[in-house]
Amino acid sequence: MINAYNKLLLQNKAWAAEKIEEDPEYFSRLTHLQEPEFLWIGCSDSRVPANEITGTNPGEIFVHRNIANMVVHTDLNMLSVLEYSVNVLKVKHVIVCGHYGCGGVKAAMTRHSVGIINKWLRNIKDVHRFHREEIDSIADEELKTNRLVELNVQEQVMNLAKTSIVQKAWKEDHRPHLHGWVYSLQDGIIKRVIEMEPGTALDPLYEFDNL
Ligand code: CO
Repeated sequence: MINAYNKLLLQNKAWAAEKIEEDPEYFSRLTHLQEPEFLWIGCSDSRVPANEITGTNPGEIFVHRNIANMVVHTDLNMLSVLEYSVNVLKVKHVIVCGHYGCGGVKAAMTRHSVGIINKWLRNIKDVHRFHREEIDSIADEELKTNRLVELNVQEQVMNLAKTSIVQKAWKEDHRPHLHGWVYSLQDGIIKRVIEMEPGTALDPLYEFDNL
């Protein structure tokens, strides 16, 4: 029976066969080597797949996704991915990629309780509070959300820079570069909103001096 679920497995077989036909070494090469240059921290939204929108192949991007592409300093999952990609894979770039019209950001702008997700969205409400004047001065709801999407990405990039993982790699190896991007669902184009070079000075409150 071909239902949507079975179709996934059939398509997988067809995809694997096609790859082998194009390049008989494809899987044996990937089996023995993973050396991506990029870590991607993106939204879980199904419309923003890291490889597809950047035209990259398996093996090129190490990926972590969560609701609204957050870098929460107590999130053991994110920290483990960051630690592994920076210290073991030695990625050169970490990209935080948000997207306009993000449902997580929209939800964080309402006063509606969404259960346990409230705790996650609280981090976005904090970003709103840091930039309250700017956000609240925008009348149009969609533009308001989209500006908060940009500011949220900027804040999450700064959260990366506040980690000892990134600060240590900056000091010892002059990498990774940090990038904040926002993807448009409307035209598929990525806008760059923030770049942080290795060694960028931070608010001294967040700089560790014993790494
Ligand atoms: Co989203």
